[in-house]
Amino acid sequence: EVPVIAIDGPSASGKGTIAQLVAKELEFHYLDSGALYRLVALKALQIGAAVSEENKLAEIAANLDVAFKDEQIFLDNMPVTDEIRTEECGLMASRLASYPLVRKFLVMRQRAFRQPPGLVADGRDMGSVIFPDALLKVFLTASAEMRAQRRYKQLIEKGMSANIHELQRDIQKRDQRDSNRGVAPLQQNADARLLDTTSLSILQAQNSVLEWYRECCAS
Ligand code: CDP
Repeated sequence: EVPVIAIDGPSASGKGTIAQLVAKELEFHYLDSGALYRLVALKALQIGAAVSEENKLAEIAANLDVAFKDEQIFLDNMPVTDEIRTEECGLMASRLASYPLVRKFLVMRQRAFRQPPGLVADGRDMGSVIFPDALLKVFLTASAEMRAQRRYKQLIEKGMSANIHELQRDIQKRDQRDSNRGVAPLQQNADARLLDTTSLSILQAQNSVLEWYRECCAS
């Protein structure tokens, strides 16, 4: 079986950054599952589908025309790498992610990323639903203050405007929704290792995951 490292955790915990670095180091593929939910959200916003229209949103998820190429993301052949990072898209993504039908249509798409020599997958349900047989499961988190700061920096670097207080409020709202929804709620799996990155540098966090992987799984 192709090895999988599942990295789950709340918004802006740094899981995307860490997962990408670990994937690069091991020369594994990388799945940004949150991007898929954001892409469904962007498409819904483009065609004016409402948050309440579960069937329409599920249809969007089922027919999504996306491509991940050289760290760029395409929707209907148009580059949308930065466009899906807006808070508007994030909020919409978090809302539609609570629909079982939407999630169902994204399962196969996510599993298709599991290709030799291995995969690092980041999201909310990588270790619980999508890759329950992952060799290593990490639950990556950080304080809400630190996560708001990180998200702020990320948005500013992309030239977008942001307000740190609003961000922290949004992050907490999103955490609550992600944790309390009926399907695939955000929670630490019994077999996942906890990595609190509040006072860790990116390099330290990356090395913790790599060390765990080498300990448990690398042959
Ligand atoms: O980067 P951030 O953590 O803010 O969000 P993301 O990982 O891009 O995901 C956006 C939204 O999609 C989250 O708020 C989740 O509700 C949802 N999501 C999910 O339900 N399951 C996943 N595996 C990944 C994301």
